[in-house]
Amino acid sequence: MSRLEKFFELNIPVIEYQEVIACTNKSLFNQKIFLKRALDPIMICLIEECFKVKILITKVQRKNWLRASNVQFSPVKINKFIITSSFFANSVKQDKYSLTIDASLAFGTGHHYSTKFCLELIQELKKMQINPLTIIDVGCGTGILAIAVAKLFGSRVIAVDNDIHSVELTKRNIIVNKVMRHVKVYRSSGLTGNHLKSRAKYDLIVANILFNPIKSLMRSFIQNLSNSGFLILSGLTIKQARQLKEISKQFGLKVLVERKEANWASLLLTKTVPKRAIKLSY
Ligand SMILES: C[S@@+](CC[C@H](N)C(=O)[O-])C[C@H]1O[C@@H](n2cnc3c(N)ncnc32)[C@H](O)[C@@H]1O
Repeated sequence: MSRLEKFFELNIPVIEYQEVIACTNKSLFNQKIFLKRALDPIMICLIEECFKVKILITKVQRKNWLRASNVQFSPVKINKFIITSSFFANSVKQDKYSLTIDASLAFGTGHHYSTKFCLELIQELKKMQINPLTIIDVGCGTGILAIAVAKLFGSRVIAVDNDIHSVELTKRNIIVNKVMRHVKVYRSSGLTGNHLKSRAKYDLIVANILFNPIKSLMRSFIQNLSNSGFLILSGLTIKQARQLKEISKQFGLKVLVERKEANWASLLLTKTVPKRAIKLSY
């Protein structure tokens, strides 16, 4: 099948979008190949003959799929936060808990557990009357978490991502959410970016970036976390969270709150457990 895909890629001139489903005789396996090009009937016969497949073709409506996905995601409420795309923004009361997030090519609308847990955990900090002054969101995606902490704590926030589309989109989203004075956005892999101070100390580090990147960044997180600081790690399976708890223990971190559901897990860790921190269970 991948030979067939390659064949399409190399041989069909760009005309229009078509969905091609190629099924082999022997199995029920079928593969969808989206082409920007028209196939003429002779070409279809030749391909069927050469690749021993049956080809079905459907025209796909031409539309801006990125925009469509952007406007269509439904508003989501996460405790006090309500997150909408700009399409729905006018139908939602705008206050410090409302976020307008367009996703486009970046990750982070609040619909995924990994983001949702982070939004819950930062609200747990607020409930404990903890107000971090310096915050970094590592792997900002759409900027959703950076914008949320800026609105919630009114603090200075740095948002970084190693992906340029995410950096550009976060810049747009911080303007839409009117937090430009609070959030600075840079391209950076982990905490190594040119604009970041290597010895900076953060009161809160949020990293929703999956297990392996977190593991390799763990040492730098500890070094850049203030003594009374908090670390939120997300994008983990429950098993990976167990492993990270072990690693965190070796670094002297304590688990303050753990959030898990549908095999996703997130951790709120700290070097020093504050007196007013109560262990919250969901
Ligand atoms: C799962 S998304 C999280 C987006 C958003 N923060 C959220 O919570 O929905 C992970 C993001 O981390 C970025 N990323 C992954 N590894 C990174 C690294 N080592 N340094 C900076 N960004 C990273 C990816 O490009 C992606 O945008």
